[in-house]
Amino acid sequence: MIRIRDLHKRYVDAEVTAHVLRGLDLEVQPGELLALVGKSGSGKSTLLNVIGGLDQSYEGEVQVAGVTLRGLDDRALSRFRHETVSYVFQLFHLLPHLTVLENVRLAAWFDEASRIAGPDARALELLDRVGLADRAGSRPGQLSGGEKQRVAIARALFTRPRLLLADEPTGALDSEHGSSVLNAITELSRADGLTVIVVTHDDQIAARCDRVVRISDGRVVHPGEAT
Ligand SMILES: Nc1ncnc2c1ncn2[C@@H]1O[C@H](COP(=O)(O)OP(=O)(O)OP(=O)(O)O)[C@@H](O)[C@H]1O
Ligand SMILES: [Mg+2]
Repeated sequence: MIRIRDLHKRYVDAEVTAHVLRGLDLEVQPGELLALVGKSGSGKSTLLNVIGGLDQSYEGEVQVAGVTLRGLDDRALSRFRHETVSYVFQLFHLLPHLTVLENVRLAAWFDEASRIAGPDARALELLDRVGLADRAGSRPGQLSGGEKQRVAIARALFTRPRLLLADEPTGALDSEHGSSVLNAITELSRADGLTVIVVTHDDQIAARCDRVVRISDGRVVHPGEAT
């Protein structure tokens, strides 16, 4: 699903260059649920941005779902971002004035009507799968943090992406709510063969994933290597 070879990422500004990713290699299989861990500042979010097609200024080879990201024109890149990947962030970014159901079906507004038939039914099905069908008419402000994040996950999956990138999705939650969010991600990924990368600082969350990948000094640390 993902194949990365010798990825280098530098942030360059007037005074300093930060060489954040330094020859990183990574392969992720389709359907894998991967935890991405590492110290603050180690480059986890940077790596997700590259994989998600949000950052095109890097060196190295990055292939996602058979697509080589470098060299895609704007149109192909926005198609990739719209159809192949979806993001979930630490803060939920729900729109407060819309209902839960309307938040989940948001992507239908930007989509050709043809691709997602019956957007309300699709949104309700996803809400059901994250255990929130009975909250479809609520506003985000009436939900707990864990419930909001499950809505954000339902929304991220609305367009049937093949890859879900979750950057500390449980970071703002207590362990009980964090666990319910991971349950939702796990269940949906297993059922749909979705590939998921979850950035987390929580060892318990990481332990429930298929594989843990640790970034240190801009590379993936392999088991047995000193960190
Ligand atoms: N836009 C930017 N310009 C300059 N430097 C940046 C930029 N974004 C990130 N960095 C630097 O790159 C390094 C990696 O940042 P990144 O956000 O990827 O880390 P992270 O592993 O996600 O950390 P955290 O766990 O705190 O979220 C950090 O040293 C950060 O300061
Ligand atoms: Mg980060």
